[in-house]
Amino acid sequence: MGCFLASLFFACSANDKKEQKESCTTTTSAINPNGDSELALLMRRLRLNTDSLKQLIANKEGNISDAYIAELERAHSAIPTDPNVKTPEFTAFNDLIITQAKALQNASIENRTKEFNQLINSCVNCHLRFCPGPIEAIQKLNIVNPI
Ligand code: HEC
Repeated sequence: MGCFLASLFFACSANDKKEQKESCTTTTSAINPNGDSELALLMRRLRLNTDSLKQLIANKEGNISDAYIAELERAHSAIPTDPNVKTPEFTAFNDLIITQAKALQNASIENRTKEFNQLINSCVNCHLRFCPGPIEAIQKLNIVNPI
């Protein structure tokens, strides 16, 4: 069951045409001439999966999956573009977002919008420290007018 869900999860993101690259600094273009880092690819999938999750939560149709949380756990070991990113602070921010993802998973339906927006806040907090470029795009994931 878990594998089936996980394969659905990745199949959806691979087909999404909105997939696009965003660098941490808006000025640098080819920091990584050998291709995108493992962490950058993971983050790009995360953004698409967070957008799908937003629709689920906003429409009160579902909640965060184990596959989503497993992807956050993989960020701990994924290789970044800039090796200086992998610090104890990065680990602490990543632990915080995993804790928040689990809080969302356990939230009652009335509290999911609030907990989802807290999850987006956890993305932004790490990005303020390590990767400011995508912050504006990440903030658009917030649910502003809950039904
Ligand atoms: C623990 C820190 C941390 C957290 C939490 C985090 N990010 Fe990131 N994110 C990064 C770093 C570092 C990069 C740069 C990756 C690289 O280039 O190797 C990045 C890159 C990105 C990118 C650009 C990827 C590209 O195209 O190159 C997007 C989009 C992104 N993150 C979205 C998100 C979203 C959405 C969340 C929350 C669901 C999130 N991030 C949570 C640290 C984090």
